[in-house]
Amino acid sequence: MKGLVLSGGKGTRLYPITYTSAKQLVPVANKPVLFRVIEAIIEAGITDIGVVVGDTAEEIQAAVGDGSRWGVRITYIPQEAPLGLAHAVKISQHFLGDERFVMFLGDNVIEGGIVSLVRQFQDSDYNCQIVLTRVPHPEQYGVAELQDGRIVRLVEKPRQPKSNLALVGIYMFDHHVFEAVNAITPSWRGELEITDAIQYLVDKGYKVYPYIHEGWWIDTGAPGDMLDANRLVLDEITPRIEGYVDRDSHVSGKVTIQKGAEIINSVIRGPAIIGQETRIVNSYIGPFTSIYHHVLIEGSEIEHSIVLEYSRIVDIDQRIEDSLIGRNVEITRSPLKPKAHKMTLGDNSKLGIVCNG
Ligand code: G1P
Repeated sequence: MKGLVLSGGKGTRLYPITYTSAKQLVPVANKPVLFRVIEAIIEAGITDIGVVVGDTAEEIQAAVGDGSRWGVRITYIPQEAPLGLAHAVKISQHFLGDERFVMFLGDNVIEGGIVSLVRQFQDSDYNCQIVLTRVPHPEQYGVAELQDGRIVRLVEKPRQPKSNLALVGIYMFDHHVFEAVNAITPSWRGELEITDAIQYLVDKGYKVYPYIHEGWWIDTGAPGDMLDANRLVLDEITPRIEGYVDRDSHVSGKVTIQKGAEIINSVIRGPAIIGQETRIVNSYIGPFTSIYHHVLIEGSEIEHSIVLEYSRIVDIDQRIEDSLIGRNVEITRSPLKPKAHKMTLGDNSKLGIVCNG
């Protein structure tokens, strides 16, 4: 089998973080979501992986490389515009050939990986198998209707969903999908919809079956989703202390301290991860927090947050919570008068200020 990862899109709901970086490269528990997707595919025994890229192609290629770091082959497939998931399949025909493949959206995080579902599809004579999960708001997703264990109907973001089974961003196909993606026409939003392609397969009598996923699944489109994914993944990882923790510090719970990190006179309460060459000094890092590499946190408290590389948080006396802080951000306290908030914030930044009294 081959793998196909979709890694285009502008990531508008993650502005300003995604002004300067692809949404799939935002780390969850200190590893870009896209790397988690690629590793899940590799874990399922697939070594030939295509990555569909758009505007952020250069950055994705620089981060992911040719796959040699994982011992696999990565091929980039440029998509000239975000014209839909089925369009991505269409332009990947050359790469995919006649092989069965799994398609995985590069911004999705799923509990437990994809080993069992890939195996089930490999061992079957299905033409297509789609991963579904029960969600509280199916109207935000592609929604499936089942009959006798088989898919009969798929509707993209229905106003009145017929079930609570949403399409997770993981699909498996054989070569018949090319017949479908070449036959369908763009939807109202101008995209070739994968749901329409799958509906075509159903209507033509091809075997289309569901795989019901019972664990958690997160489509990391917005900051709140990133924090949710971070919380869930941090709880899954096996803790490792590879950095330095001084005698005055206290580390408890599932905590990973990566190489070259230093914890000085601080409290770290897991699940949490502290990245390479990061310094935590006289601070408190609370549960569900990921601090990426080369960060300085000094004289401050933070929890349930993600802080990206090269940022500095110094002498902030109110605890920082539920925050997604980008690269090279500085949050400091100024000794100079007048006593005022001084900010340089990018477009679409969000700042919550605590008011006293
Ligand atoms: C896409 C699919 C939708 C699926 C969702 C999962 O939606 O079209 O069927 O449920 O991914 O993340 P989009 O993110 O393009 O709105």
